[in-house]
Amino acid sequence: MNNLKAISDQNYLKNQQYRSGDNLDARIQLHRRFSTNPTIYFEWMFDQLNLQAGMQVLEVGCGTGEFWRTNLPRLPDNLRPKLLDLSAGMAAVARASVRQDTRFSFTTADAQNLPFGDRRFDVVLANYMLYHVPNIPQAVRELRRVLVPGGRLCAATNGTSHMQELRELMHRFHLQHAEVPDFVGRYGLKNAPSILRSSFEHVNVIPFNNTLFVTETQPLIDYIHSMVGLWNFPPDAELDLVKWVEFEIQTKGGFTIHISSGVVLAW
Ligand SMILES: C[S@@+](CC[C@H](N)C(=O)[O-])C[C@H]1O[C@@H](n2cnc3c(N)ncnc32)[C@H](O)[C@@H]1O
Repeated sequence: MNNLKAISDQNYLKNQQYRSGDNLDARIQLHRRFSTNPTIYFEWMFDQLNLQAGMQVLEVGCGTGEFWRTNLPRLPDNLRPKLLDLSAGMAAVARASVRQDTRFSFTTADAQNLPFGDRRFDVVLANYMLYHVPNIPQAVRELRRVLVPGGRLCAATNGTSHMQELRELMHRFHLQHAEVPDFVGRYGLKNAPSILRSSFEHVNVIPFNNTLFVTETQPLIDYIHSMVGLWNFPPDAELDLVKWVEFEIQTKGGFTIHISSGVVLAW
């Protein structure tokens, strides 16, 4: 399988990349630990959604449930979010991360065929997942179908320059992996409006830029190991890369990685 194909290979996604929460968690940890922006991204995203008590909310491709774990203390009492993921393992991790809170329910299903009737939800989240879906227009139609008229979709993704320094580092050590341009070429901040306008009248892209200043080597190595479509990270390449990063940290205090991400709202 080539790296580009891995992005939307459902077998690979379900049974390897997202079989458990470990890969996604390694990536979330790097962001959480080394972010220089004092704003917590998922708290900021929560603010954009303006969730009100009693709303019907669905998250498609919930991953480890990090968005809800982060915002648990702010959740209106009678909000009962439904979380859905292609991977049963991920849905189980999400359940644990909201500490078995009984307001949440969990389903394993595919975004291309949502197991809900029409016009069920006021808000649907589908963050960092549309680029994984084999037939993106079909998933977008499904997301629209389950929303009430005027209901809002939040479908966050990344921009073209996302983590450029990490990509350059991996090229330097000849590590082949699924590239950010492959992801954002399928669904990124730039083409999101044209993709979503096939089913939604209004689309609003709200960028969120950040810089990671990574001051420890191991979390960066863990991130690289977790990446989609990284088939081969030979031990000698890893050793050389570790030396390079350690020198960078010793001489410059840390390794800088720019984050280009953001929320895409559609209604
Ligand atoms: C990069 S993670 C994002 C997780 C979460 N939305 C977040 O922002 O942290 C992508 C998630 O989408 C799920 N996924 C991939 N393809 C899917 C599909 N066709 N239907 C539902 N979930 C899918 C994966 O199993 C994974 O948990």
